Amino acid sequence: MAGSPFPTLVMILGLMVALGTTALQAEARAFFVFGDSLVDSGNNNYLATSARADSPPYGIDYPTHRPTGRFSNGEHIGSEPTLPYLSPELRDQNLLVGANFASAGIGILNDTGIQFVNIIRVPSQLAFFKAYQQRVAALIGEDKTKRLVNEALVLVTLGGNDFVNNYYLVPYSARSRQYSLPEYVHYLIVEYKKILKKIYDLGGRRVIVTGTGPLGCIPAELAQHSINGECATELQRAASLFNPELVEMIKELNKEIGTDVFMGANTNQMHMDFITNPTAHGFVTSKIACCGQGPYNGLGLCTAISNLCPNRDLYAFWDSFHPSEKANSLIVKQIFSGSSKYMTPMNLSTAMALDSRA
Ligand SMILES: *[C@@H]1O[C@H](CO)[C@@H](O)[C@H](O)[C@H]1NC(C)=O
Ligand SMILES: *[C@@H]1O[C@H](CO)[C@@H](O)[C@H](O)[C@H]1NC(C)=O
Repeated sequence: MAGSPFPTLVMILGLMVALGTTALQAEARAFFVFGDSLVDSGNNNYLATSARADSPPYGIDYPTHRPTGRFSNGEHIGSEPTLPYLSPELRDQNLLVGANFASAGIGILNDTGIQFVNIIRVPSQLAFFKAYQQRVAALIGEDKTKRLVNEALVLVTLGGNDFVNNYYLVPYSARSRQYSLPEYVHYLIVEYKKILKKIYDLGGRRVIVTGTGPLGCIPAELAQHSINGECATELQRAASLFNPELVEMIKELNKEIGTDVFMGANTNQMHMDFITNPTAHGFVTSKIACCGQGPYNGLGLCTAISNLCPNRDLYAFWDSFHPSEKANSLIVKQIFSGSSKYMTPMNLSTAMALDSRA
């Protein structure tokens, strides 16, 4: 990963916006998103940073066929997604459906993604969430605002960059000299727990938390480390330590709170399903990115002069780091209705059924 020019991360979820859309239509609940490029719906377009997806062919399958700032080829099924917090359109009635605070390049730790100077790190995302609530309160009053936030669906996607853009960013990185991998993972989980507690304190009551994807299997890693297409072992080891510890932490946190506020999504397993058997999921490949260059189309950025596949739906990866819209939609489906292998302690459809009875 050393020297990668690109922001972030690793696979998984971009489509969360879809999730918000569906949840929203089902129950008219607001949707809030915190995290990194997997879920950034365009905040970084408003910042002076290189971590952006604001030029073609990003957005090629979006209704406008233009880049939106999302690190994806498409939109995210269905209607208008939740607006980026920094968008000037986010005002008046638009505020009431929620907001997206995510920013490409960030991680659990403040020193993750330091090479991307102006990005919205977690403490700022949370401060914006507070400011957002004040703006909404001015519009509909404090009681209704509190209810809107309590009833909302929240998505948090963090962690991939803490490996790719921190621990493994350069050989002998400061963090890798400070901690062994298991110690580092534990430190991340302790810090992640503090972040989740703050989201609870700020009113979040239905919160989906994702793990990392199989970091070693993304085209960017295959291009740099793989001889026969096998996944890079160190990053796979990182993901395999991080994800189970995250699930344990979520269980612990729910127990401390006394109710199942947090739901863990095993995005690592969801992705491994495509990686081990791409054709069963309708993909021709899960190794080669649709847009890029070099081995596995995994080197450098996806730009107007990159190789570009004609049918994005046949690729699990859109660019060297990010899943295609199709892959995202499969992941969202698992979040909704996946078994306990994928969702802890329950899937979203179960949670929504519980909430509608409440
Ligand atoms: C990150 O920065 C915030 C505020 O600047 C601070 O409260 C927090 O403890 C820092 N996190 C870590 C892990 O150092
Ligand atoms: C998940 O959702 C489906 C409904 O789509 C349900 O039948 C199933 O039991 C749920 N699984 C778990 C583990 O909650």
